[in-house]
Amino acid sequence: MLRENFKNGDMNMKISIIGAGSVRFTQQLIGDIAQTEELSKEDTYVYLMDINRRRLDNSYILAKKYVEELNSPVNIVKVEDMNEAIDHADFVINTAYPYDSRYHEDGFQKWETVTEIGEKHGYYRGIDSQELNMVSTYTYILASYFDVKLALDIASKIKEMAPNAYLMQTANPVFEITQAVTRWMNVKIVGFCHGVAGVYEVFRRLGLDTEEVDWQVAGVNHGIWLNRFRYKGGDAYPLLDKWIEENADKWESKNPWDIQMSPAAIDMYKFYGMLPIGDTVRNGTWKYHYNLETKKKWFGKFGGIDNEIERPRFHEQLRRIRERLIKLAEEVQKNPRIMLTERAPDIFKKGRLSGEQHIPFINAIVNNKKTRLFLNVENKGAIKDFPDDIVMELPVWVDKDGLHRENIEPDLTERIKKFYLWPRILKMEWNLEAFISRDRRVLEEILIRDPRTKSYEQVVGVLSEILSLPFNEEIRKHYRI
Ligand code: NAI
Ligand code: MN
Repeated sequence: MLRENFKNGDMNMKISIIGAGSVRFTQQLIGDIAQTEELSKEDTYVYLMDINRRRLDNSYILAKKYVEELNSPVNIVKVEDMNEAIDHADFVINTAYPYDSRYHEDGFQKWETVTEIGEKHGYYRGIDSQELNMVSTYTYILASYFDVKLALDIASKIKEMAPNAYLMQTANPVFEITQAVTRWMNVKIVGFCHGVAGVYEVFRRLGLDTEEVDWQVAGVNHGIWLNRFRYKGGDAYPLLDKWIEENADKWESKNPWDIQMSPAAIDMYKFYGMLPIGDTVRNGTWKYHYNLETKKKWFGKFGGIDNEIERPRFHEQLRRIRERLIKLAEEVQKNPRIMLTERAPDIFKKGRLSGEQHIPFINAIVNNKKTRLFLNVENKGAIKDFPDDIVMELPVWVDKDGLHRENIEPDLTERIKKFYLWPRILKMEWNLEAFISRDRRVLEEILIRDPRTKSYEQVVGVLSEILSLPFNEEIRKHYRI
């Protein structure tokens, strides 16, 4: 009966994935659906859509085989037309990373091209590497144009063909896109990020039993802070202080992503007064990022993931995984007895969920499986001092009636607000202002305020070279003023 409350007029349940060739999301989400009792049903339809036919075919073959292995009756459908994916959908998950296939293999390659030009003009790690935004492919100056545009297109189709659907924004920049759609389109959008899972690394390092921790994190996407941290009824921050005193100098990073307890995180904690969580640690100021040597000092021997050595390596690794999946799909077609859950159990999980928040969100809305998630939604009073309509990353309880924000208690520190959140929110606003005004001077103004800029000529030079790239023709036309 519950389903009737939100359904777009038919009995089936339709979940669509836009950008379904995604290595990092599609099979994980399929596995979660197939292993969620209330959703693993004959009337559940998962639509896969991608502009790259080879990737789409591939994801489709693997997804079908995967649900079969999990004995799930969920239907997998592939479509090349976005309209077909969105029409009457209940949930639209956007994981697309746009690129132009005439020039690049994927969005990562496009990003590498643009970053190289930035570096040539004196912008280490590209013009989008900005204070409070050092996550490599999280672009918000020029390169985000296609990502924002695509999300707005998806939103306008949702408005027309599936007005009750939720747009579940997963592709970056999550903050900017979720804000843009919330502000300009009349569509329900929620931004998703798994960065919050960084708290479990903190609990593990401190030897805490997760069940006994009372915690909250809040902020904006990739800018979240452990505001509440209590253990067995008492304040747990002294436990962190003790760990820092006894163990911080023995800490070593096990891989480029392992930075939750790095000197950078501890230094930020000491300055801001609360521990930065997940991708927030990557997103400090230039203090931690001037060059590779600086990054190694603060993030351990790899220098984190956002540098000239580790980032290209990671992109290669993603391409290898994609190739491996293509080979697996070919094998599956030749020999249907192959078991994906045995051949690649890291991707095709059995007996456990991915940890992504998407499917628990859907199950909470559809089947009233009440759950606590960390979502990018309008603030609406949750964090004090910020406007109601700014999209913030918040602890939210989700059930059949929708979203219920927790009050952020204790409040974030003044320094987090004044030195981190306000400046980061302003940058989001600058980006949206550039996009909506179509005024190239806004782009210039953003770069003029960049500490790496030494002259106005440098700004004009880097922008005009990036804008004259053949695959950026549409952006060039967009910024007409
Ligand atoms: P990917 O390149 O493996 O997958 C993206 C897919 O989108 C590709 O198959 C591509 O063909 C497709 N695509 C491109 N343009 C499209 C269009 N116009 N319509 C439909 N499909 C289109 O990239 P990956 O690694 O899956 O990343 C996807 C996005 O997710 C990126 O924006 C990335 O920054 C973001 N991301 C977000 C995370 C989060 O926690 N929210 C974590 C990791 C990545
Ligand atoms: Mn993220």
